[in-house]
Amino acid sequence: MDKHGILEMTTMRYEADRPKASNPVKIQDLSFRDGHQSLFATRGRTEDMLHVAEMMDNVGFYSMEVWGGATFDTMHRYLGEDPWERIRTLKKYMTKTPFSMLLRGQNLVGYQNYADDVVRAFVQRACDNGIDIFRVFDALNDFRNFQTAVEVIKKNGKHFQGSICYSLTEQRMGGDIYNIQYFVDKAKQLEKMGADTVCIKDMAGLVSPYDAYNLIKALKENIKVPVHLHTHFTSGMGDLSLLKAVEAGVDIIDTCVGPYAYRTSHPAIEPLVITLLGTNRDTGFDIRLLNKIAKEMEKDIPKYMQFANTTKYGIIDTDVIIHQTPGGMLSNLVNQLRQMDALDRLEDVFAEVPKVRKDLGQIPLVTPTSQIVGIQAVNNTLFDTGKERYTRITEQVKDLCYGLYGKTTLPIDKDVQKKALKGYPKGEKPITTRPGDVIPDAMPQVKEETKGLAKDIDDELIVAIYNLTGKKYLRIKHGLEPMPDEMKPITLEEVKAQEELVKKAKAGLLVEKPSTPAPEKPADLRSFDIFIGDEYFLVEVSEKGGVPTVVQRAPAAAAPRPAPVAAPTPAPAASPAPAPAPAPAPAAASGEGTPVNAPMPGMFVKYEVKVGDKVAVGDTVLVLEAMKMYNNIPSPVAGTVTATPFSEGASVNKGDALIYIKA
Ligand code: CO
Repeated sequence: MDKHGILEMTTMRYEADRPKASNPVKIQDLSFRDGHQSLFATRGRTEDMLHVAEMMDNVGFYSMEVWGGATFDTMHRYLGEDPWERIRTLKKYMTKTPFSMLLRGQNLVGYQNYADDVVRAFVQRACDNGIDIFRVFDALNDFRNFQTAVEVIKKNGKHFQGSICYSLTEQRMGGDIYNIQYFVDKAKQLEKMGADTVCIKDMAGLVSPYDAYNLIKALKENIKVPVHLHTHFTSGMGDLSLLKAVEAGVDIIDTCVGPYAYRTSHPAIEPLVITLLGTNRDTGFDIRLLNKIAKEMEKDIPKYMQFANTTKYGIIDTDVIIHQTPGGMLSNLVNQLRQMDALDRLEDVFAEVPKVRKDLGQIPLVTPTSQIVGIQAVNNTLFDTGKERYTRITEQVKDLCYGLYGKTTLPIDKDVQKKALKGYPKGEKPITTRPGDVIPDAMPQVKEETKGLAKDIDDELIVAIYNLTGKKYLRIKHGLEPMPDEMKPITLEEVKAQEELVKKAKAGLLVEKPSTPAPEKPADLRSFDIFIGDEYFLVEVSEKGGVPTVVQRAPAAAAPRPAPVAAPTPAPAASPAPAPAPAPAPAAASGEGTPVNAPMPGMFVKYEVKVGDKVAVGDTVLVLEAMKMYNNIPSPVAGTVTATPFSEGASVNKGDALIYIKA
C-alpha cells in the first residue's frame, strides 16, 4: 500500500500467476445469520444450510457468523427449531471454519437486559455448543453491559470481539457526538477490556466510503488489535465503503455469498474477490467454488421470498440516509402501521423518530433501541392529542429512562424522563449503576417454572430469555403439543403450487369458467377466505350430493334451505342442526360494561387486575406485546372489572375486547 492508500497491483493477467497476497483481507461470511436475517426476516432453516455447509467450510473464510442476533428468537418462535441444535448440527459439517455469533451484551439474544446468572449460563452454553467468536455489542455502547458475558468468554478461552455501534446524527460522520474521537475512545476502552478484535458495527449501512476510510485509518493508528468492519448494503454504499476500508488497512470485513447479499443485507463476496485479485490484499478465494455455492443457495431462495420485502423494486433504500431508520426498524414500522390501518401516517412517524431519539439521549438505533424508539414514535404519532406528548409510554421507554439499559449517549430529556418514571414500580429516581447490578438472579425461578417441561439447561435458557414463546416451543419440542402447520418447513413443490395459484389468480383464472351453466346457488355453501399476497378471494363451496354439511357461521339465523324440487315434503333432517363449536375463547367470554379494545394487534401478556377489582381512569389494566415491546394498556373508565377473557400468550387482533369494566 503506498502513501496514497492505493492498492499495490501486480501485472497479473491469469489466475495461474496469482501471487499470494502479503496482507490478505480476512472475510467473515454472514450468509447463515445476518444475510437471511436482513433479507428474509431470519427465516433461514438449518436444512437449507446443510447442503452448502461443507463447500462453505472449504472457502477459507476467517469465520462464519451462524448464530445469535434474531436467530434464537425466530427459530423457536416461527420455525419450530431448537436454536442450540443448529450450532451442533452445523459443527458436524463445518470443522475448519470458526463459528461466530452476534451477542447483544447483557441483552443476549433478546430485547432486554437479563440477570447476570442468565448471562453466565447462556454464554457458557454457547461456548459448550460450539461458538468460537463472540461479537458483543450494546445498543447504547455502554460497555458495562459486556462485563458479565466477557468474563465467561475469556474464561473459556474464546475470542471476544468488542463492537461499537456505528451511529450518526447527520448524513456524514462528524458533529459533536458521533465523530472519530467518539469511536477511537470507545475502541480504546474495548482494547483495555481485553477485546481480541474491535468491530465497527454499522447495522444500518450508514457509513460512507471516505468516512469508512478515515475511521479505519484512525483506529489502526490508535489500537493494536485487528479491526473489523461490518456494514450493510442498504443505502447502496456498502461495496464502496468496504473497498475504502480495505485501502485503509481494515483487517476483516463481512460479506455474504451472492444470493444472500445486497438490499438490506451485505455486499457480496464474489465481486470483491475479483476486485482484489492480484493485489496485496487478495482474499485468495476460489471464485469457481463461490459460484458453485451461490448456485446451490439459489435453489432455496423461492422458499423464502414470501418473507422478502417486495414493496420496493429498487435495491437501495435512501430512507436510511435521510431518516437514519435501519432496515429492520423500517419494516417493523411499516408492518405495525399497516396492522393498525395507519400506513398513511408513515411520514409522520418518520418525522417523530428523530424527536423521540433526541428526547431519549441521541442513542444509536439498533436492536433493541431501534424498536424502543420506533414504537414510541408510533405511539406518539397515533395516540398523542393536541399539546400533550408521550400519552402512551411503553414499558421499555420507562426502563430506558430508569437506566435499565445503561447510560445513554447524551442525558435523557428531563421532562420526558420524569413523566416516564411517574409511578414506575422500581422507583422514580433513575439509577446510574451497571444495569446488571440491579437485576435479581432469575435462573432458580426459571428452573422452578419449567419443571417437567425443560429437559436440560439449554431448554431452561430458552424460557429464561423468551418466557411465553419459549414455553410454547418446549411443549412442541417435547411432543406435548402438535407443531402448528405454519411452523413446518415449506417444500419447493409447495412453493411452486402456490406460485401457480397466484399466477392463475392474477390472470383471473382462479375460478375456471364451467362449460355447463351454473346451477342455482345452494344454501349449504361453505365459505372460505383465501388470501394470496395482498389479494383476497371469497370462495364458496357446496358439496355435490350426499348430506350437506351445515357449517354456516351464524347457525340460527341462516336462511332456510330451499326444498329440493323433487321432494315435496321437507326432509325430516331439517331439525335444527347442532350449533357449531363456539369460536375459541376470547370472543365468547364477554362481560358487562365498557370493553377495552386492543389498539394494535399483538400477543396478550398479562392482566394487572382481576375480575372484581376496582380501577381508576388511567390505571394499567393489562399488558400487550406488540412489535416485541410491552405496552401497558390503561383503563379509559373508572369502575369494576367484569371479565378478563384472554390468557397468556394468546394472539390479539386490533379491536379485540381485552377486558370489560363496569362503571
Ligand atoms: Co448487521
